[in-house]
Amino acid sequence: MSKDLDYLLKEKRIFEPSKTLVDDTNIKKWMDEHDISDYDELLEKAEENPKWFWDDLARELEWYKPYEKTFEWNPPHAEWFLNGKFNIIHNALDRHAKGTNKNKTAFLWESESGNVRRISYHELYIEVNKFANALKSLGIGKGDTVSIYLPMIPELPIAMLACAKIGAIHSVVFSGFWAKAFQDRINDAGSKVAITADGFPRRGKLLNLKENVDKILENTPTITNLIVVNHADVPVKMEGNRDVWWHEIMENMDTECSTEEMDPEDPLFILYTSGTTGKPKGVVHVHGGYAVGVYSTLKFVFDIKKDDVWWCAADIGWITGHSYIVYAPLLMGVTSLIYEGTPDYPDPGRIWDMIEKYGVSVFYTAPTTVRMFMKFGEEWPEKYDLSSLRLLGSVGEPINPEAWVWYYKIIGREKCPIMDTWWQTETGMHLITPLPISKLKPGSAVKPFPTVKADIVDDNGNSLVGNGGHLVIKSTWPSMFRTLYKDPDRYIEAYWSSFENTYLSGDVARKDEDGYFWIQGREDDVLNVAGHRISTAEVESALVSFPGVAEAAVVGKPDEIKGEEVCAFVVLKQNYIADENLEAALRHHVRCEIGPIATPVCVNMVSDLPKTRSGKIMRRVIKAKVKGEPVGDISTLANPEAVDEIHKLV
Ligand code: PRX
Repeated sequence: MSKDLDYLLKEKRIFEPSKTLVDDTNIKKWMDEHDISDYDELLEKAEENPKWFWDDLARELEWYKPYEKTFEWNPPHAEWFLNGKFNIIHNALDRHAKGTNKNKTAFLWESESGNVRRISYHELYIEVNKFANALKSLGIGKGDTVSIYLPMIPELPIAMLACAKIGAIHSVVFSGFWAKAFQDRINDAGSKVAITADGFPRRGKLLNLKENVDKILENTPTITNLIVVNHADVPVKMEGNRDVWWHEIMENMDTECSTEEMDPEDPLFILYTSGTTGKPKGVVHVHGGYAVGVYSTLKFVFDIKKDDVWWCAADIGWITGHSYIVYAPLLMGVTSLIYEGTPDYPDPGRIWDMIEKYGVSVFYTAPTTVRMFMKFGEEWPEKYDLSSLRLLGSVGEPINPEAWVWYYKIIGREKCPIMDTWWQTETGMHLITPLPISKLKPGSAVKPFPTVKADIVDDNGNSLVGNGGHLVIKSTWPSMFRTLYKDPDRYIEAYWSSFENTYLSGDVARKDEDGYFWIQGREDDVLNVAGHRISTAEVESALVSFPGVAEAAVVGKPDEIKGEEVCAFVVLKQNYIADENLEAALRHHVRCEIGPIATPVCVNMVSDLPKTRSGKIMRRVIKAKVKGEPVGDISTLANPEAVDEIHKLV
């Protein structure tokens, strides 16, 4: 029996939030206003009448022109807030900058070296307006795409918000990816303008971003300008007519810029995510529904109130950062903390120190971070006063009950419920999640958010209780992605073709007799390394692009801290010799092609890969060997000796 399963069976406790906490929550107050007495009644009523639920929340945002219909659901296509006029920036920024939140801190930013920048709503408004005007001066307008490759600095959200303000579509690429990923995503999006920085510090060492961007811009024909933030004083070469410094272009810009009135269904951003093929999917989110979805979940799941200091410790380059560092907190008019560096730098007290120093009240992180801190020991968080915390959150991968209980006891000091939120780049907002009024079972993401119809089904689409199956969604929700950029067929094929009118999440999960969901992990060829989605196909295509590599297969290897690690098997072309140097070169190559998170922990050279008689690589068999599990049915296997070879290696 695996250690996790053993623990799951032992950990049967149910954790209930205190009455004082529950009585003060946004959701409880909302339920009281609507005469709803408990959690189950809330879920029932909202599922029966989603229009009522979402209308009530959409009313809290401002519409240039009221919408005429809440949603139209013609699976797999949904439209929300039809015929209204809206802009997410009016709600996230303009209305606060001109209202009572004017001087309130919107972003509280701490650099890796400890410098602090507090940017008020009004200051943010000015910066965003100036940058929006700068983009306009470079010919950017409604419907144009802008590609952004920036570290965790305030200029990143400023650039995103400025795009949205003028109706341009931002495409942010995680700065931890190598520049090649930026190149592919610029070309897919067809951006005219790209934004980067000279460099940034990582554990005290300066990394150069611009130098790498220069190389890839030779292969991006649509780019006319590159805007460069001078963040780390790294020496860079500016390219003639193409490159412009952020601070120079901002110098003479007007501090006012009108906000474009958008159709609620107009695209807000593209965010690329891994799928089962090597080509990333450009997930498209829109202004109206996305705004209402992320606003409502932050309000009800994390119970954010006006004086909260909210810290979502993710990277803005991922959906968690887009939704819950940038858009949702600004829509709620609260203070969102942004930290540039790694959580254990310069020592494992860093994040606990920041929670104490800034009085963080709600903290949201990934299980991999929790497990890393468990390893450092309780003495680190125990040195700090964490009494400002009221709620905790988890996202990105299943949280094992052991880590859950540690997080609850050591960080939350047994008074902060943990919101284990299940969602995806595609969903935009939490879909299966506790609310602060829910009873919690460690390791379970509890139940669907109000109105969301989630289910577990077998291969024939029959609902399952107690057994693992496909996690599917059978309703629309406002922040649902609308399509894949320039690839509407793949949108249908990848997500909507397995079961009728049903969204296939790609995860396997189980529902227990109380209706609680237990997410088990991905069912497709997608790995989850430290909460980050990496497709095996992307890593394999990087490996086979290296001279001498004929074939490659990549599987996930269980890891105590990161959940999974990338483990590769390669077959070399004739006359190439397998040695340590080659292994190191291959690991380095993947690092450069994709980024440090995708670097294989091991590259095993083999003479053949297990294949079916039709020549398909049987990753399932390799995976079972790597995990030390039974290989299952191998009746279609053509070359059993390849399995023996792998068996000896792992
Ligand atoms: O496998 C699920 C896992 O992360 C995947 C989505 O990854 P991404 O689009 O990068 O978004 C990550 C942040 C929302 C899911 O298909 N996942 C996400 N949250 C959880 C989770 N697995 C278990 N429990 C969660 N709370």
